[in-house]
Amino acid sequence: MRLSARLAALACLAALAVAGCGQNEQDGADATGSPPAPARSAPTEAEKLALLASLPAPYSEADLENGRRVFARCRSCHTLPEGAPNMTGPNLWGVFGRTAGTHPDYNYSTALKSAGFAWDAERLNEWLANPRTFLPGNKMSFAGIPDETDRRDVIAYLKTETGYAPEG
Ligand code: HEC
Repeated sequence: MRLSARLAALACLAALAVAGCGQNEQDGADATGSPPAPARSAPTEAEKLALLASLPAPYSEADLENGRRVFARCRSCHTLPEGAPNMTGPNLWGVFGRTAGTHPDYNYSTALKSAGFAWDAERLNEWLANPRTFLPGNKMSFAGIPDETDRRDVIAYLKTETGYAPEG
């Protein structure tokens, strides 16, 4: 996003706790009083910034624009929006706080199904650095993201595009 928009959104975020601002630009539910849509598949910019801020450092300081670019490496196998289909890999909506290997209707490897932890930023960081060594026997054919900053940014991007779970 443009810097000015980001600053405006940040200012808004600061005010959010007291005033509940930030609903005006994105979601169309305004003075007409239309009820909010039941599916929360399109987070507003203010919601995205709140999600970003909910992450532990250094993820909370991530560059979301770079994260979006890095996610291009995942797009051939993963969708992000709520209800979007599984592809080679599972849909990643709600992945933060979700137990690994539990997206319905996706046929995981035994390694991922029996991993026994919930995804958070730190687990994702280890997974994305080198999926093969982090969880031997998994079937994600992806070499990993060697650059620490790229991992930080794509993890934060994932959180802002898929996450309402309170846990980072
Ligand atoms: C070539 C296809 C492919 C690419 C590219 C890929 N993935 Fe995956 N991903 C998979 C597959 C397949 C699985 C399921 C692995 C298993 O069951 O062992 C998976 C699983 C995952 C999971 C675990 C989901 C869950 O429900 O437990 C996460 C998180 C994930 N991928 C994130 C990413 C991210 C982020 C990227 C890009 C940086 C990426 N993947 C790139 C195919 C891919």
